[in-house]
Amino acid sequence: MSTVLGKPINFSNERRRGERRKHTRATTSSATVPREDRQTVGTAAVENPRIRCTDINVHYGSKHAVRNVTLDIGQHEIMAMIGPSGCGKSTFLRCLNRMNDTIDNCRVTGNIWLDGLNVNDRAIDVVPLRAKVGMVFQKPNPFPKSIYENIAFGPRIHGLARNKTDLDEIVVNSLQNAGLWQEVKDQLDQPGTSLSGGQQQRLCIARAIAVNPEVILMDEPCSALDPIATAVIENLMSELCAEYSIVIVTHSMQQAARVSHRTAYFHLGDLIEVGTTESIFMNPLHQLTEDYITGRFG
Ligand SMILES: Nc1ncnc2c1ncn2[C@@H]1O[C@H](COP(=O)(O)OP(=O)(O)O)[C@@H](O)[C@H]1O
Ligand SMILES: [Mg+2]
Repeated sequence: MSTVLGKPINFSNERRRGERRKHTRATTSSATVPREDRQTVGTAAVENPRIRCTDINVHYGSKHAVRNVTLDIGQHEIMAMIGPSGCGKSTFLRCLNRMNDTIDNCRVTGNIWLDGLNVNDRAIDVVPLRAKVGMVFQKPNPFPKSIYENIAFGPRIHGLARNKTDLDEIVVNSLQNAGLWQEVKDQLDQPGTSLSGGQQQRLCIARAIAVNPEVILMDEPCSALDPIATAVIENLMSELCAEYSIVIVTHSMQQAARVSHRTAYFHLGDLIEVGTTESIFMNPLHQLTEDYITGRFG
């Protein structure tokens, strides 16, 4: 059994007798819940957000992959995005640092506010944006360079170090903050790819940290890792949120429950429900959320 902030969760919890769900069509299957019953429920807004997204729509050609998503990411918050495969989690995540720009037929509309900057404004420079909003992928992807160079590369191109001493300090601090320093301090000249999968993922996190991000996006960062390496990354996330906001896409509800403060549930491109992780798993408001977390759908 998993826990939310130390409290046990029963993923098969049945609705208490007599308790009525809003937004419920008990006799309707998940796939046929009508459009008007797929408005976001719960609490999508937070006070003083790090990122505020309004009316985000994403199309791949004629395919409408993300529909009218309005959502805040809080400061020092770990936000989990869950939902069945293909529901638009990765697509939405990639909006936050304009990674969808790299996909030819992808069109993103809506506003994404970060520090008074509209991330979705075509005129902004995406290079500093992607330092502010870093990304860690499912498969660790170190550069084909040494461990040292993997970290030093970003600060060098962003002009964050005045000299070699500065750069060394950034490399050491980043590796320390990613919980990797003790393991690699004697092999900084070795290729990043020589590390284990879990170490490579922490190297990628260190690489993101090295350029002073405000937000770190993680798309299924533990899917390629064993349970021990996964636990190391999850513990690291809990430490990192003291400094950064973290948005994690995960197919593991247990992982969402273990690491996140708030959870967003997506279904067929719609953001169905957002709330504290505890409320999403213990007392979901929407029938579709309940169907998913109890294993009836997805
Ligand atoms: N590059 C792409 N071109 C066309 N369609 C895509 C592309 N990437 C994703 N899609 C489609 O967009 C929808 C959402 O995909 P995705 O964001 O990858 O979902 P998730 O991460 O929740 O599994 C899916 O129907 C998927 O097939
Ligand atoms: Mg995905």
